[in-house]
Amino acid sequence: MTNIPVQEPERQYYYIEKAKEYVQKAAKEAGRPLTFCVTTFGCQMNARDSEKLVGILEKIGYQEETVEEKADFVIYNTCTVRENANMRVYGRLGQLKRMKKKNPHMLIGLCGCMMQEPHVVEKLKTSYKFVDIIFGTHNIYKFAELIVTRYESQRMVIDIWKDTDKIVEDLPSERKFAFKSGVNIMFGCNNFCSYCIVPYVRGRERSRNPKDIIREIERLVADGVVEVMLLGQNVNSYGKNLEEPMSFAQLLEEIEKIEGLERIRFMTSHPKDLSDDLIAVMKKSKKICKHLHLPVQSGSTEILKKMNRRYTKEQYLELVQKIKTAVPDISLTTDIIVGFPGETEEDFLETMDVIKKVRYDSAFTFIYSKRTGTPAATMENQIPEDVVKDRFDRLLKEVQDISAEVCGVHEGTVQSVLVESINDHDDSLVTGRMSNNLLVHFPGNENLIGKIVNVHLKECKGFYYLGEMD
Ligand code: 5AD
Ligand code: SF4
Repeated sequence: MTNIPVQEPERQYYYIEKAKEYVQKAAKEAGRPLTFCVTTFGCQMNARDSEKLVGILEKIGYQEETVEEKADFVIYNTCTVRENANMRVYGRLGQLKRMKKKNPHMLIGLCGCMMQEPHVVEKLKTSYKFVDIIFGTHNIYKFAELIVTRYESQRMVIDIWKDTDKIVEDLPSERKFAFKSGVNIMFGCNNFCSYCIVPYVRGRERSRNPKDIIREIERLVADGVVEVMLLGQNVNSYGKNLEEPMSFAQLLEEIEKIEGLERIRFMTSHPKDLSDDLIAVMKKSKKICKHLHLPVQSGSTEILKKMNRRYTKEQYLELVQKIKTAVPDISLTTDIIVGFPGETEEDFLETMDVIKKVRYDSAFTFIYSKRTGTPAATMENQIPEDVVKDRFDRLLKEVQDISAEVCGVHEGTVQSVLVESINDHDDSLVTGRMSNNLLVHFPGNENLIGKIVNVHLKECKGFYYLGEMD
C-alpha cells in the first residue's frame, strides 16, 4: 500500500493523481472526455473559490462545459446570505435529478455557504439522495480527495467542518480572466451583524500571511495579471490575528510595491474598522482604484444598533466626508437592507437621508431576509411584506436617480480604462472598466483585452459610458 501524505498540500496532489486515474477510466467507458460545469451563487469570495474548484477539476482530467445540461459533473457553489438563494438551489436540483437518470456518468457536487447549515444537509440526505458530494466552505481544498472517496465508496460523500484555523496554500486554480484576479487576504468574519449568517457559515476571521499574499500576486503578475481584487468579509480588520500583526493599510503599501501590478481593488470594508491610515494610503497610492464599497446597511442609528453594526449615522457620514476630502474623485458604493425588524417609517427616512447626503455611485439594495439562527430572526416586530416592498421601491428609485446623476459627471473627461472583453451586443466595440469601477464601451478589437488605455468619455448612458480611444 502506498503511503498517503498527511501534510497539505502534498496530500491533495496525491489525491489529484488518484482522481485522474478514476476519471480516465470513466472517460474510457464513456468513450469521450468527461465534462464539468461549476455554477457560482453569491459573492466574490464564492467566485474565487469556484476558480479553485475548476483548477482541481481540470487537473484531474475533466473538461469545462458551459451548458449545464450537457455536463457530466455539475457543481453548485452555493450562497445562503438571503433565503431566495437557497430556494433557487432546491429548484435546480429537481432538474438535475432528471438529467442524472439519463447520464450514468453524471456526478452532482454541492458546496459553499448553504452546506454549512445543518438543516440543509439533513434535507439533502433525506430528499435529495441523488447528490454525490457535499462539502462546505472550510475544506474546498480537499475537493480531489472527496472525489476519490466518491469513486471508491459509491455513496453520498458528506464532509462539512464547523470551523477551521487552517489555510492551505498552493493548490491549482484556474482564473476566469487572464488579466485580473481575486486574491483572498482573509477568511471568515467576527462581526456578527445581527441579521447576517456569514459568521456562522464562514467561521472565525483568519488572515493569510502577508508573504503568501505577496507571493501569490507576484506570480499572478508574472502570468499577465494587471489588476487584483483583495477579498475578505471585512478587509479593514486584516492582520489582527497574525503572529506578527500587520494592518490592512500596511499590507496595501507592500502590494503597491509589486512591479508590473497596475491596479488594486479591495472588498468589503466595514465602516467601523476603516482607519485614517487606510485613507492616507489611498490618497497617496498610484495603484489603488478610486472606488470604495462601504456598506451602510441602514441610516438609522437605532436600527444600526439593533443590527450590531457598531457605528452611528453621524459617524458613518463623518467617515464619508473624511474619505471624500482626502480622495475627491472617489466613487462610493454601498449595501442597504430595508425592512429590518422594528424599522419604522422614520428609521427608513433616515436611510433615505444618508443616500441623499452621500450620493452613492451605486447601491445594492436588499429586502431583509430572515436567517434562522441569527439574533434578528427572533426579534419582535418583523415588518409586513407590503410595507417593506413600498419602502424598497422608494429606496430603489432614489438610489437610481442619484446614481444616474453621479455617474454622468465624468462626461467629456479622459480616463484610464482596463479593457475586459468584446462588447456583448456589438463586436466592433470593447468594454473596459475605469478606476472608479464604471464601464465604458468604445470601438476596438480583441488585441486590446487586458490592456490599460486612455479613453475619452463621450456620452453617459446612465450607468455606463460610450467613448473613444484618446
Ligand atoms: N437579509 C438581507 N440582506 C442581507 N445581507 C446580509 N444578510 C442579509 C439578510 N439577512 C446583505 C448585506 C450585506 C450583503 C452582502 O448582503 O447588505 O452587506
Ligand atoms: Fe455579515 Fe456583518 Fe460579517 Fe459583513 S461584517 S459578513 S454583514 S456579519
